[in-house]
Amino acid sequence: MVKQWAPDTWRAKPIKQAPDYPEAAAVASVEAVLRNYPPLVFAGEARRLKGLLGKVAEGRAFLLQGGDCAESFAEFHPNNIRDTFRVLLQMAVVLTFGAACPVVKVGRLAGQFAKPRSSDAETQNGVTLPAYRGDIINGAEFTPEARRPDPQRMLQAFGQSAATLNLLRAFAQGGYADLHRVHSWNQGFVANSPQGEHYREIADRLSETLDFMAACGLNSETTPAIRETEFFTSHEALLLPYEEALTRVDSTSGDWYDVAAHMLWVGDRTRTADGAHVEFLRGIKNPLGMKCGPSLDPDELIRFIDILNPENEAGRLTLIVRMGGDKVTAKLPPLIRAVQREGRKVVWCCDPMHGNTIVSGNGYKTRPFDRILAEVKGFFAVHEAEGTYAGGVHFEMTGQDVTECTGGAQAITEQSLADRYHTHCDPRLNASQALELAFLIADALKKKRMASLAQAEPAWRVGAAE
Ligand code: PEP
Ligand code: CO
Repeated sequence: MVKQWAPDTWRAKPIKQAPDYPEAAAVASVEAVLRNYPPLVFAGEARRLKGLLGKVAEGRAFLLQGGDCAESFAEFHPNNIRDTFRVLLQMAVVLTFGAACPVVKVGRLAGQFAKPRSSDAETQNGVTLPAYRGDIINGAEFTPEARRPDPQRMLQAFGQSAATLNLLRAFAQGGYADLHRVHSWNQGFVANSPQGEHYREIADRLSETLDFMAACGLNSETTPAIRETEFFTSHEALLLPYEEALTRVDSTSGDWYDVAAHMLWVGDRTRTADGAHVEFLRGIKNPLGMKCGPSLDPDELIRFIDILNPENEAGRLTLIVRMGGDKVTAKLPPLIRAVQREGRKVVWCCDPMHGNTIVSGNGYKTRPFDRILAEVKGFFAVHEAEGTYAGGVHFEMTGQDVTECTGGAQAITEQSLADRYHTHCDPRLNASQALELAFLIADALKKKRMASLAQAEPAWRVGAAE
């Protein structure tokens, strides 16, 4: 029998990663304020995204999810939002061309504030303070005042999310995302990238395609699909008092939706079958994500799917696999086989960021570009070997020219990490690294299509030397 669910039933469950607010009454009064705030997204939009993800589950579309590891109050600026959105659009165009199918664009944006941490406390020079948990909870500065969890921050995060989403909607619908503009940005990238020649073929073929479409009368004026784009938001549903306060009954369907974002996911550290986070997510009707790290075993995965997608609805659940470049080839096949054996409909998405974090020789948390690429390649190769569909990718990236991940065509070294290392949390791909990855993936997707047309060699083979 399915147990009763309400937006607050998570409160009776064991919870991980929850801040220790000093005053419960202050939290309750912020929740009361949030409960009266307008929704950030409509339930109908979340349903639309679920439908698109259903196409991804069936192999008819591709998912691109990306954005900041953690948004911050200090970096809240229209240029930052614009630049991240722009790179996502550029990546999406390249991937659309490579995959020859629609790309569903979902940002880690407009609400991605709360962070799980490996330790509850941090010690510096003999002083121990609560860990930084993201700007929606406390401040990054290492002082007792900043680190004290402050519920008022939820209101600021809501305001920032609303303003961010407003700008994204304007960009998506107002002409900024026009395919011709995005293509000309990509041509700029190809002209300026150290490995631009390698990507020129895709860019040139896209130019030809746009010219051909224009000759057929398909242009920005005649065709909204060229002028506009659909863009969705997502974040980790970590801070449950905030998510609960923004969970509402949709008057059309009578169902509960978390109206803080279109899609919500459960992180690897809070993924516990009888825990608070899974309890919260199972009752909302938004499309959901679940991070799948190396500790997840196949039977456990099926139990999570029973809880989060009991009706086996395509598009309801995206499995965001984050094993590490060195583990994906061994860890992913048993998960895929269990899902296939049980006939479960899921989207398989590759997060090549969170399993590939290392500390550099000079003390920076970084992610080598080669390891990120190795995980993406491993993910695609495993799906090819299993006969399943590699449905998407999930990146931590920014439109800014930061130096946080080593490698890539710009060849960022450990020494240059110090130049522009701005992240509040995990190291992100910069604009050119993100785009470079998109070109590499597009190239492989295209080869795979050609190979399956010709029934020839797979594009990426498991264990193939590079
Ligand atoms: C994240 O996506 O920022 C994150 C913390 O991921 P994970 O839960 O996979 O570690
Ligand atoms: Co992260």
